[in-house]
Order: sequence, then C-alpha cells, then structure tokens
Amino acid sequence: MITAIKQNIVPFLDLRVTDAEQRQALLDAVARVLDHGRMIMGPEVTQWENELARRCGRQLAVGVNSGTDALYLAGRVLDLRPGDEVITTALSWVGTANGIALTGATLVFADIRDDLNIDPDSVSRLITPRTKAIMPVHYTGKACDMGTLQRITKEHNLPIIEDAAQAFGATYHGRPVGSFGRIACFSMNAMKVLAACGEAGAVLVDDPYLHQRLTALRYNGTINRETCLEPGLNARLDTLQAAILLVRLRYFDELVEKRRIITQKYEEKLAKLVKTPREAENCRDVWYTYTIQADRRDELRAYLAANGIETKIHHPILMPEQPAYRDGARGEWKHAKHLLKRMLSIPAHEKMTMEQVDYVAKTIRNFYGA
Ligand SMILES: Cc1ncc(COP(=O)(O)O)c(C=O)c1O
Repeated sequence: MITAIKQNIVPFLDLRVTDAEQRQALLDAVARVLDHGRMIMGPEVTQWENELARRCGRQLAVGVNSGTDALYLAGRVLDLRPGDEVITTALSWVGTANGIALTGATLVFADIRDDLNIDPDSVSRLITPRTKAIMPVHYTGKACDMGTLQRITKEHNLPIIEDAAQAFGATYHGRPVGSFGRIACFSMNAMKVLAACGEAGAVLVDDPYLHQRLTALRYNGTINRETCLEPGLNARLDTLQAAILLVRLRYFDELVEKRRIITQKYEEKLAKLVKTPREAENCRDVWYTYTIQADRRDELRAYLAANGIETKIHHPILMPEQPAYRDGARGEWKHAKHLLKRMLSIPAHEKMTMEQVDYVAKTIRNFYGA
C-alpha cells in the first residue's frame, strides 16, 4: 500500500525539495551567492530578470519581493490616484486588489465566466470616464480571453495590467501570458508553479521609461542609490531568491508536464461527475490549481477530508465582499457568487504519485456513487 493511503493523507501541496539533482543544483546556487557575498542586487538578479523577460517575450523585467509589490508598483508608474478606477475580476486572491488600492485608486469588480476568468462583457459594461486601467487575472494558471480584452481596451484606449501571478508559462494563442499588458505582474512565491524558496515577484514592461521608474520605486524611489525622486518601497528581490529561481526555471517545463499528466487522468475519470477545468482552444494552461465545480461541494469536501485528502476553496471570499472592500463596492459578481459555492481545488501537484491521483479520483467517484 502506498504511503499516502497508509497515512491516509494526500496533501494539497508539498513544497519540500525531494529531487536529488534539483536539490544539489539549488544548494550549489546558494553556495555561489554565499561565496560572492552580493546579497542585495547581486549578479543573479539581473540574470534572472533578463531570463524572465526573454521567456515572457518582453523587453524588460524588474525583480521585486512579491506579487503584491509588483501590482502596487505597476499602479504607481501608471500614476493611479484617488478618483481613478481600475476594473478587475471579483474572484482572485485579495493581493490583486490590495496592490492597486494602496495607490488610492478604486477597484471596480467584474464578473467571471465558467472558466473562472474575468468576463470581458462585464468589463465593457463597467467602463466609465474614470476608468484608468483594466486588470485581468490569469486565474488558476489559465490565460484570460486576451483577444476580446485587447479589443475592448484598444477601443477605449486603456492600458492592461496583467496579474499573471498564477500563470507564469501559460500561453494564449501561442503567446505567453505577461506579454499582453502595458505592464505585467508576477508572483513567484513558494506556492507558485515557478516558485522561489520564500517570497518573490516581478514587473515586466517594454517601455524604458516605465522600467527606469520601476527600478527607482523598488528602492525607495532613488536613483544613484542616494537621490530620492519620489517616495517608494524597499521591494528589491533578494539575490538568493533570484539564484534559486534561475535553477527552478530549468525544471519548470518538466514540472508542468507532470501536472498535465495528472490533470489528464482526472479529466478521464471525473469529467462525467463534476465540471472539470479544460484548456481553451489554442491555449496552454500551467495548472496552478485544478479547480473543479461540483454539486454538493461542501459534502464532497468533508468526504474527501474524512478520507485523508486535503482540498482548498480558492478563494472563499470574493474580493468585493471582503471587509476591506465591501462598503460601496461597485461592479458585477452574480455568476462569481454562484460558482464560488461549487468550486473546489483538489490536489494536482507534481509530487503526487499516480496511485495518489487514482485514489483521489476513486474517492470522488465513490462519493457520487459512480
Ligand atoms: C492572482 C494573484 N495576484 C497577486 C498575488 C500576490 O502575490 P504575492 O503573494 O507574491 O504578494 C497572488 C498570490 O498568491 C495571486 O495569486
């Protein structure tokens, strides 16, 4: 009997580094940083930024210490201020809203489609003269309908801020996420598919002026290390995390391939019982989460827990219903509210054995009496 079943546990995620080769490569990368001693803005930071920009089809990347900081800095360089509105999805981790809210701008929340991504029709209905940007989130590692969103933003001459925190490596019609917006923001925190060993993020742009401002803003708004042009954060990416990310990137495609095999297995076994997530035509997802939509979701979740299977609800409070945002929140989120009662993220990470995958699928099938 496999360990997972013996211990009666299938964890939702497993962040340990167990692969011997990758572990050694990470330790070697850390040792190199300890040797050169440039703990802040060491050479690995620039190397990582160049590699990231290249992978995402962008000119320039700025490494920062979280996705939330990335979004805040994106808002700052677009000069968002009180009175401005930014339209985003109702369904995301609240970091999406917080980064922008900290600039003083107001979030307006659009509804979602069945694929859990922002609904471009809802975005269209919410545009006003105060709208200064549209911020789609490539939720669960799946690209938004960028074609339609680009048509809308072009018509209204609005910039896109891509929140690609969950979707590094995903593509839409052959183009990588992060290549669509005037600004794209990533998180590489430890839970992400491309993950640092701690917190990390990045902002990607093509415009050298935006790049220059972002670089200053991530270090207290300074140029030449001393002269402060405008108030900023200390949001620099650690050299150690950059060194780690350079190694992680080498294993990324293999990791996504493993997730893909797992999700295909789930699709075969579960598609008749629950609504399974599927890739849209010409799109490639990176499966940050495998989020099904299920009847009797809460009962299913309890049944899985009783059978040692850990699941999550991402994210149980819609952003416009968070205490921080609910007073006077504007937008549309009826469908999001409906789907939120049905959504369940089940384990689908690269460290699962096929026996564990079968066990999860079998337990769900048992629940529905299949
Ligand atoms: C969609 C989305 N946006 C923003 C963030 C914030 O990123 P970070 O946790 O690196 O601040 C996250 C993190 O989980 C996220 O999933």
